[in-house]
Amino acid sequence: MKKVEAIIRPEKLGDVKDALDRLGILGLNFVEVRGRGRQRGQTYWRGAASYMADTLPKVKLEVVVRDDDVERVVDAIIKAAWTGDVGDGKIFVLPVEEVIRVRTGERGDDAI
Ligand SMILES: Nc1ncnc2c1ncn2[C@@H]1O[C@H](COP(=O)(O)OP(=O)(O)OP(=O)(O)O)[C@@H](O)[C@H]1O
Ligand SMILES: [Mg+2]
Repeated sequence: MKKVEAIIRPEKLGDVKDALDRLGILGLNFVEVRGRGRQRGQTYWRGAASYMADTLPKVKLEVVVRDDDVERVVDAIIKAAWTGDVGDGKIFVLPVEEVIRVRTGERGDDAI
């Protein structure tokens, strides 16, 4: 199992959730964050008219998925979150050791 952690533009959250829904990916959570990437939070990396902010609002989406679903999920997030401009976001894939459904005690893939 893997946790797919995607930092995306807040306005893309709806599209990304819809895309995951179409894949049958149901469980997820997200949190509003502030962050910065290579442009250090500047809106326009070319410069002149940019306002200087340290960080920009983003959404961090977390989805734990079966190993077999990782590539489909990552592809779907990229397609739904992409604009082509700087600041489109970043996706991290982390190993997950165990998942336990509280109600039933199921573990592993079955608990996802
Ligand atoms: N190395 C990182 N570690 C943790 N979070 C990151 C990292 N890089 C980016 N982020 C998060 O992702 C958000 C979007 O990053 P962003 O898309 O600007 O990345 P980038 O590397 O600057 O790529 P681009 O040049 O396309 O803008 C950041 O605001 C921050 O929240
Ligand atoms: Mg950037």
